[in-house]
Amino acid sequence: MLINNDTIIKDDNALIREQSEPVKLPLSNEDADLLEQLYEYVKDSTDPEISEKENLRAAVGISAIQVGVKKQLTAVIVHDVDKNGNDVTYAYELVNPRITSSSVQKAYLESGEGCLSVVEDHPGYVVRSARVTVKAYDLLQKKDITIRARGYFAIVLQHELDHFKGILFYDHIDPKNPTPNVPNAQVI
Ligand code: CO
Repeated sequence: MLINNDTIIKDDNALIREQSEPVKLPLSNEDADLLEQLYEYVKDSTDPEISEKENLRAAVGISAIQVGVKKQLTAVIVHDVDKNGNDVTYAYELVNPRITSSSVQKAYLESGEGCLSVVEDHPGYVVRSARVTVKAYDLLQKKDITIRARGYFAIVLQHELDHFKGILFYDHIDPKNPTPNVPNAQVI
C-alpha cells in the first residue's frame, strides 16, 4: 500500500467516521505488514529528504482507518521530555490498544492539535486527560505491554485511539468557546 499525503483519507471521506474493529492475535501477515507500513510512514515523515521526495506530511502517529482499513492498529513515534527532563522517544506499533485508566487532571496543547486527515485549520484547545494507562500488543517488542503515558505522549495516544471511534480532534472543540479556561490543566 502506498501511503502518502494523497492516499491518506481526509475528513471529507465518510470512512474516517467508521469504527475500527479489534484485530485477531497472533497477527496475520497482512495486518503486520500494514502496521509496519504505518510505522514507516511516521518515521519517514519527519525525514526532510524522504518526506519531500515521497510527499509525506510530518506526523507523530497514524491509525489504520486513515488509510481506509477499519482495524485497531496505530503507529506512534513521539519525542518528548520525561519527568526528569531527559529527552525520550516513545515508539510503538500498537495492536488493539485500549485506555484502562485516565487521570482526572486534564491537559491540552496550547497551539492546538493537527491530523493527517484534516486539511483545514481548527484552532482551539482539545482538552484530554493528562495521564493515561494503555494496554496493547506491541508489534515492535512482540509482546503485550502496558504504557503509562503523560503529557504530550498521552495526548497523542488519545488522539490516535479516538480514530478507532471515528472521532476527530476538532470534535472536542466547542466553536462557541474554543479556548476555555480549564482548572488545573497541564498546558503543553
Ligand atoms: Co489524526
